[in-house]
Amino acid sequence: MALRSRIVGTGMSVPDRVVTNADMTQWMDTTEEWIEQRTGIRERRWVEDGQKPSDLARGAVVAALSQAELDVSDIDCILLATLSPEHDFPGTSFFLHEAIDAGDIPCIDLRAQCSGFLYALQIADSLIVAGRYERVLVVGCEVHSTGLDVSTEGRDVTVIFGDGSGALVLEAVDADAGPGVLEVRVHAQGKHARKLWTEGPGSAMYPRIDHAALEARKHYPIMDGRFVFKHAVTRMPEVLLETLSAASLKLEDVDLFLFHQANLRINEFVAHKLEIPKEKVLNNIQRLGNCSAAALPILLAEASREGILEPGKLVSLTAFGSGFTWGSAILRWG
Ligand code: UT7
Repeated sequence: MALRSRIVGTGMSVPDRVVTNADMTQWMDTTEEWIEQRTGIRERRWVEDGQKPSDLARGAVVAALSQAELDVSDIDCILLATLSPEHDFPGTSFFLHEAIDAGDIPCIDLRAQCSGFLYALQIADSLIVAGRYERVLVVGCEVHSTGLDVSTEGRDVTVIFGDGSGALVLEAVDADAGPGVLEVRVHAQGKHARKLWTEGPGSAMYPRIDHAALEARKHYPIMDGRFVFKHAVTRMPEVLLETLSAASLKLEDVDLFLFHQANLRINEFVAHKLEIPKEKVLNNIQRLGNCSAAALPILLAEASREGILEPGKLVSLTAFGSGFTWGSAILRWG
């Protein structure tokens, strides 16, 4: 029997603490208007002191398993995408593994930044289609806030990021049955790695962190925002169309477009370029900011709970991020 992977459960978890644009004006030279006009963001969620990535990931996974009416013991493997690991090593997936008491199943961390969820989805789908595993947890999880520079110097990056986690359960089904993941395409361009990155602490530095590195602010993310923006609005339409074409589908066939939530302006630009009607695009960046690898699974979880994802609907997911990385997936819900 030919196999396909199908999403049987989605879940999400974000911290309770709401950080508004007005809060940002207390810490740095910015205005509520600047942030909302340039990014679309009104507020984001940031962790409380002591709240860890694996706490958020656990919440998302418990919700996804509950929607799927499955238990942890039904899962064969965990793939977790993040750019904000809980510790240097081992990966965040191991702390999630501990938190959900996952026995001895394998777990893997994936480092592909804002496209990490789509990279994880492609690998999980391949593992299922190859018959290696029957059920895989795919998780996106970020705690950005503990690593951001809330002074004026970091304002371009800091205002856009939020914390959160989204998860889904992928299950092997008969490929002839209809619904499931139809195609996932991902790309990378390492030559732009330093256009959006955090240099340290890292093993290229000796020692990995010291006072001089801290004073040089190497532990804070830096971004060439305009350069990233320009590439995002080029690569996202490109890979979206490539993925649809690979699945022998047309743009008009798609019922719902979910884009990475980095900047509302990027998504409006992409939708305009492809002439996608507004009603077919779902955004939550206004409330949650940019949750990097967690953005798409959180959107999926919200869409499924809001009843937007009826069986048979075609859903397109597209992302762009640091690396550079970009990718797109097309799936039939059900
Ligand atoms: O998720 C991963 C991928 N990331 C992205 O896709 C992000 C892509 N880039 C962006 O979203 C936008 O470039 C930003 C929202 C980050 C910045 O918006 P922008 O319109 O590109 O602004 P800019 O960086 O060109 O800066 C314009 C001005 C500068 O001032 P001067 O030099 O014109 O005096 C900045 O210093 O805005 C200033 N600025 C701010 N002002 C108030 C930058 N950040 C802020 C701020 N508040 N938070």
